[in-house]
Amino acid sequence: MKLTSVSALFLAGLRAVDARTAYFCGDSTMAARGANDGDTDGWGAYIGKYLTIPAVNKAIGGRSARSYYNEGRFQEVANLVQPGDIVVIEFGHNDGGSPESNDNGRSDCPGAGTETCISDKTGETVYTFVFYVIQASRLFLSKGATVVLSSQTPNNQWETGTYQGAPSRFVGYQKTATKALNNPDVTFVDNFQAVSNLYLSLGRDAVNAFYPNDHTHTSPAGADAIAQAFAGAVAAGMNGTTSLTPFIK
Ligand SMILES: *[C@@H]1O[C@H](CO)[C@@H](O)[C@H](O)[C@H]1NC(C)=O
Repeated sequence: MKLTSVSALFLAGLRAVDARTAYFCGDSTMAARGANDGDTDGWGAYIGKYLTIPAVNKAIGGRSARSYYNEGRFQEVANLVQPGDIVVIEFGHNDGGSPESNDNGRSDCPGAGTETCISDKTGETVYTFVFYVIQASRLFLSKGATVVLSSQTPNNQWETGTYQGAPSRFVGYQKTATKALNNPDVTFVDNFQAVSNLYLSLGRDAVNAFYPNDHTHTSPAGADAIAQAFAGAVAAGMNGTTSLTPFIK
């Protein structure tokens, strides 16, 4: 082999190892400008402050794992991803309901496995949250990326005046998807629990102040606090070490 081709290979290899950008796929709770109401923001707009590598926020308001998948949004991110990059996936706020009754194009088929439903609106076969997350993860793995599956943010847990910490079923589904993938390059972080711990310690008034308009979308300060909680959970290896752990500031 000529030296030029050896060094070309070497450089290609180095570039692959060096390529480290963190991409974030999610909904309005992660998206820049949050619910686009002028008052709210998503935590993906702040996570870059806590990382030593570039963060690219690809979250889009109103999306579920299903609609992000069906619109080709995971594919768009996969087209950008280089070997060594990290993709964080977090959905759940728009995934509830049933595609079999007045399907809104976002509800996943209930269940945590290979169940399927037929959309009563379009006749489309609809899969589970776990299915869509697994497909997306495999897509990113095929590009040489690693994947961090993050559980959804809680709603305002102090809304009733007393603290309500119970997770939605989508929190468990992220863990189920992680286990089903059974790949060291796919790890789980319980962002729901990280933020819940923060909300419990901050108390009612401070947390209520994070929610200017509704119980889902946070103020910029709330979004920043969530980003910090996520980074803290990843740094501490709260649910095990992830590929993002070495890149927390
Ligand atoms: C993640 O780890 C935390 C801290 O150990 C734990 O409280 C939480 O239940 C874990 N999440 C899941 C879904 O297992």
